[in-house]
Amino acid sequence: MTTSAIRTMVPDDRTAVIRLLSDSEPWNRLGYGADDWSRIFCPLPQGRDCYIAERDGQVAGVAIVKQKFLLGDYLELLGVAVWARQKGIGGQLLTHIESLVFQRTKNLFACVSDFNEPARAFYKKQGYLEIGPMPNFLIPGSAEILLRKTAGPARKS
Ligand SMILES: CC(C)(COP(=O)(O)OP(=O)(O)OC[C@H]1O[C@@H](n2cnc3c(N)ncnc32)[C@H](O)[C@@H]1OP(=O)(O)O)[C@@H](O)C(=O)NCCC(=O)NCCS
Repeated sequence: MTTSAIRTMVPDDRTAVIRLLSDSEPWNRLGYGADDWSRIFCPLPQGRDCYIAERDGQVAGVAIVKQKFLLGDYLELLGVAVWARQKGIGGQLLTHIESLVFQRTKNLFACVSDFNEPARAFYKKQGYLEIGPMPNFLIPGSAEILLRKTAGPARKS
């Protein structure tokens, strides 16, 4: 029987998370490697909320949320291990995060690289609107697209 769970990241997850993210697209193309992940997860990203998706006791996905970005929160990173992709784990992790975020604020923002078609399709299916491209944001010749999912206007008129 397959079991899945979502929980808060702990320092012991660090090695598995770095392995999951290293040698994975889109980050290779964007110039992020094991050294970057080791620095970011040292042992946990500071001032962020980090979540782990587990499948059969293994770390299958990771997400980082930075609170307070525009009038909402910002999903800084979402990654599912290659062996665990397209099994609904990314969707479960994001739904879990949204259930927490929309209790405290009205928007969840994210970014996706313009060349990352699978992730763009994924976010669209999850209800995210592409706000617009930020050209040459991380690497030359490619844009990061700002995404927004909203629970409604921030203020009552
Ligand atoms: C994008 C990502 C987080 C999605 O997580 P996932 O667990 O694979 O996705 P789910 O199983 O929950 O959802 C599947 C949907 O995502 C999209 N999708 C994900 N991977 C895809 C692929 N390789 N090819 C086509 N569509 C894909 C499709 O819309 C798919 O729906 P479908 O199966 O009905 O076509 C994951 O594939 C991943 O980590 N990719 C690499 C890192 C990344 O791009 N992160 C996000 C941007 S920073």
